[in-house]
Amino acid sequence: MLQKSSMDVLEAIFTRRSVRKYLIKAVEWDKIGYVVRAGQMAPSSGNLQNYKFILVTMPELRKEIATACLQQMWMVDAPVHIVICGQEQKAVPFYGVRGERLYTIQNTAASAMNMILMANAQGLGSCWVGAFDEDMLKSSLGITDGRPHIVLTIGYADPSEIIEMPVRYRIENITYLNKWKRRWLDLDRIIWSWNIIGKAMKKSKAIAGKLGAKAREMSESITKKLEEEEAKEREKRGGQN
Ligand SMILES: Cc1cc2nc3c(=O)[nH]c(=O)nc-3n(C[C@H](O)[C@H](O)[C@H](O)COP(=O)(O)O)c2cc1C
Repeated sequence: MLQKSSMDVLEAIFTRRSVRKYLIKAVEWDKIGYVVRAGQMAPSSGNLQNYKFILVTMPELRKEIATACLQQMWMVDAPVHIVICGQEQKAVPFYGVRGERLYTIQNTAASAMNMILMANAQGLGSCWVGAFDEDMLKSSLGITDGRPHIVLTIGYADPSEIIEMPVRYRIENITYLNKWKRRWLDLDRIIWSWNIIGKAMKKSKAIAGKLGAKAREMSESITKKLEEEEAKEREKRGGQN
């Protein structure tokens, strides 16, 4: 059963990694149930929920899926594959081309991410697999409606595989404040400290807690500075809001 306090969202996000080596060990169905339910709890455009989740457990089919996924044969060892299919046509009457080409993909992606985090919270590893031959996958699973968007592998991670976090850009390089290309270096300081907290979490919750308190303090001083900046900006724009 899911332990309510087993992992908070911060820990689930920061400790998640793409797992590509699995133990030959079955996953309990109640855990899969939570994963699927988490997928359904994600937001979707107009609450359309225009997706289908195919849970694949049969080894022969997992092999076919791995083959369709451009021979990513490591996938076979994951005891469960979840193939997330989008139903584009369901979105068209409501949102036209935008629904078909954008919202449907966003809906399945949001579901996938919820599933991945729920898997981690329950001690399961997962990997998002997007590289596949769509026609092969459709024919293996008999998909007649919509498109497969994502395959998730789910299972117990093999602890012999040490997974380092692939490098991420610094926040200041991917984030602007209020306007395009307007950098805010303090933002990097505060968010980067959350990154360190994520790492500390692996070692000790107490250390992470202390760092969290420091980050919050920093956040308050940044908020103050930001308010001053915004007031100046408003003054410059002639007092408009
Ligand atoms: C759209 C998308 C497609 C991906 N496709 C594959 C894939 O086909 N095979 C694979 O091994 N990993 C795939 N990944 C996983 C990424 O390689 C992985 O998320 C990235 O290297 C960062 O590592 P991390 O997930 O451990 O943070 C995909 C991820 C996304 C979001």
